[in-house]
Amino acid sequence: MPRGRLRSLTFLVLATCVLSCSPLLAKNGADAWLRYSSLKSSTPSLPSLVAVVGKGEILRSAAGELVHALAGKPKTQGPASTLPNRDTFVLGRWKDIHPLFPELNRSRAPSGDGFWLKTVRRAPATYWLIIGANERGVLYGTFSLLSRIVRQENVTTLDDSQSPSAPVRWVSQWDNLDGSIERGYAGRSIFFDNGTVRSDLTRASEYARLLASIDINGCAINNVNADPRILSTDFIPQLARVADAFRPWGVKLAISVDLSSPVAVGKLNTFDPLDPEVAAWWKQTANAIYKRIPDFAGFVVKADSEGRFGPSQYARTAADAANVIARALRPHGGILLYRAFIYNHHLDWRDPKADRARAAYDYFHPLDGKFDSNIVIQIKYGPIDFQVREPASPLFGAMPNTNQAIELQVTQEYTGQQRHLCFLVPMWKEILSFDMHVNGATPVKKIVSGDTWHRPLTGYNAVVNVGLDENWLGHPLAMSNLYAFGRLAWKPDLNSEEIAKEWTRLTFGSTPKVIETISRMLLTSWHIYENYTGPLGAGTLTDILGPHYGPGIESSERNGWGQWHRADKQGVGMDRSIATGTGYIGQYSPTVQKVYEPLANCPDELLLFMRHVPYTYVLHSGKTVIQDIYDSHYEGTEEAAELVEQWKSLHGQIDDERYFAVLKRLQYQAGHAIVWRDAVVNWFYRTSGIPDAEGRVGNNPNRIEAENMQLVGYVLVEVTSWETASDGKAIGCNQTSCSASLVFDRPAGKYSLAVQYFDQNNGISHYDLSVNERVVNSWSSDDNLPSDKMNGHTSTRHVIEGVELQPGDVLKIVGTPDGGEPAPLDYLELIPQRN
Ligand code: GCU
Repeated sequence: MPRGRLRSLTFLVLATCVLSCSPLLAKNGADAWLRYSSLKSSTPSLPSLVAVVGKGEILRSAAGELVHALAGKPKTQGPASTLPNRDTFVLGRWKDIHPLFPELNRSRAPSGDGFWLKTVRRAPATYWLIIGANERGVLYGTFSLLSRIVRQENVTTLDDSQSPSAPVRWVSQWDNLDGSIERGYAGRSIFFDNGTVRSDLTRASEYARLLASIDINGCAINNVNADPRILSTDFIPQLARVADAFRPWGVKLAISVDLSSPVAVGKLNTFDPLDPEVAAWWKQTANAIYKRIPDFAGFVVKADSEGRFGPSQYARTAADAANVIARALRPHGGILLYRAFIYNHHLDWRDPKADRARAAYDYFHPLDGKFDSNIVIQIKYGPIDFQVREPASPLFGAMPNTNQAIELQVTQEYTGQQRHLCFLVPMWKEILSFDMHVNGATPVKKIVSGDTWHRPLTGYNAVVNVGLDENWLGHPLAMSNLYAFGRLAWKPDLNSEEIAKEWTRLTFGSTPKVIETISRMLLTSWHIYENYTGPLGAGTLTDILGPHYGPGIESSERNGWGQWHRADKQGVGMDRSIATGTGYIGQYSPTVQKVYEPLANCPDELLLFMRHVPYTYVLHSGKTVIQDIYDSHYEGTEEAAELVEQWKSLHGQIDDERYFAVLKRLQYQAGHAIVWRDAVVNWFYRTSGIPDAEGRVGNNPNRIEAENMQLVGYVLVEVTSWETASDGKAIGCNQTSCSASLVFDRPAGKYSLAVQYFDQNNGISHYDLSVNERVVNSWSSDDNLPSDKMNGHTSTRHVIEGVELQPGDVLKIVGTPDGGEPAPLDYLELIPQRN
């Protein structure tokens, strides 16, 4: 063994595990998938030495992670001159490890940020090599090995060399400098507060560790609707502190920038990208950043979109704008992600040819080949905006001479905002596997990996929006989406089930029933959510002018935003055909056009995205469109209720803290699914006039409208949108307290009482439900839903199980308002319970 090479060898001895961690120990979710509990509770026959070959901050993180995962604290630590004759983990870059193990086959050496896990036997020792193409690769290899150990894979003989599918594997945070987060649902920013970078960046560095564990190498930390101040001179040192927090984990800092910064910050008279002074300003600004942050990743740009400044102001193109900035970054190795999310949000809704879905292709396709080599065009997966169902954006197939990245969304803006369970991986997989048929077989994943057109700089960026909530994303199960994003960006061929099981094992332990149940819940959840929110490709039928959360079927119509579904008395759907519609389908290759253009071929799940059809149109499934809308919403609601039961079957098998946190969210979801269902089916019934063949719509025999109860103090409120309250009406209390009561006149027995109320965010009202003046249940409307009004965002169900009732009993709800919230009530449901 060449001794000279070992000058940079450090080794650590792992202390014997003394901890006894059980998966049932309480957990708040902060550790996410890095709990390592099974490692600490059992002692598999693993080496007790860690040898680090080479020096570097990321290598130290890798070694530290092994120590942390396997043993807690290292007993001794220090330089060494030779590899020990005992089983040892040996970590290092290929260039440092290969001389020590010349027998390793060069052709297996990893590339990019890749790694090679390899066991080498040199009696009496076995060396567990964690070899990285670079330091980051060593860290990723370490996390990968630990994941295998936790998941109880056989790791005694390893030989696995992996390299990432693409070099750009970023996440974006839409954090504002004041600490709020646009479309963030898990607390305030971990980076900013009150206009500056937080003094305590502990969470930022913990986030970087989480990201590293899923092979993410870049993070843009501020809102794409960027505040220009981020580029001001006094901000750059603050950004440097975030970069310092990220660096040990191999995560490079990026920021979103506003195109008008040369004016807003630089005090120039113009931000015309072709003006030499503007070019000089971007250069000088990039130089100043790199002086403080030499490994700065680059910028994300949103321009000419939703009111943002852009090159159109000077009749310049996106290529002009992108190139001037990219040229400032280029000498330093920085890159620019320019977003393709450009559309006119003042479209004329009366114009049947107007179509927002066309915008990205129409704008960028002619610019193909005009972007510098360190520019990547970042394309949302679908042509609209993170809807529950969209076709793959046609732009992926239209720019062979341009670097591309796919933009996904982990933060569930249109898919339940982490209050509803919605594991997005099956949807992402459909998009990634969708064949654009532009160059033989060209699935989107091959385009964004750069394989199709041999592009060197391509990849993935997901909007994540973790917040200060201890468990990062609010819903403990929502973390599966973040985990999956990283795994897919590394290896898009992984299938949804593998990822779901992997995440579940790491997060909740290896009990077969737990793995089976949770992964089944994850895998069915997207379809369940789609079933009750967005039929047949119409998009999420949410309040698009508001928080994008609860139902708001009409909000997308008759305005310039272009998220239309064009439902009227006769039919529903956007006609995007070439023959009679907006021509959007013509943006795809001829092979794909053949799937969407002939009505008879168009897949049911995208029918209303592509075509306008009568309600009586018969789907491939054999159902009419209207009946499918009704059926899917009833099915989705039942499936959401079933998720609660599946989860309950795990009681006692996972720690109570996470069990109850998830249970609460699932119960809420099951209630809110009913709000969604009723809003959608009632709206379509009123619009189409066609009754539900099953007789369910408008027929709720267990329901008693609050406005029909005997009211003391409560007054009638007409709710907008009407479909978000039962019968369009509710009641509110404008005095100290009010009551709504009724005399029970149904068969004696045990009932489950469901009270539908509105939990506004401008007060915490209190409710007492009594039977014959005896209070049987009390609750407060203390959730923080995104509205201060009675509507589909705030409508919430409170269920009281097992109440024995006799005819003649008096049921009374007393509501005590608080702040601006008038203890509102929609209805009471009396659901007979089987014993
Ligand atoms: C959506 C989202 C906005 C966001 C925009 C974007 O429209 O609602 O909050 O700014 O996407 O991706 O730029």
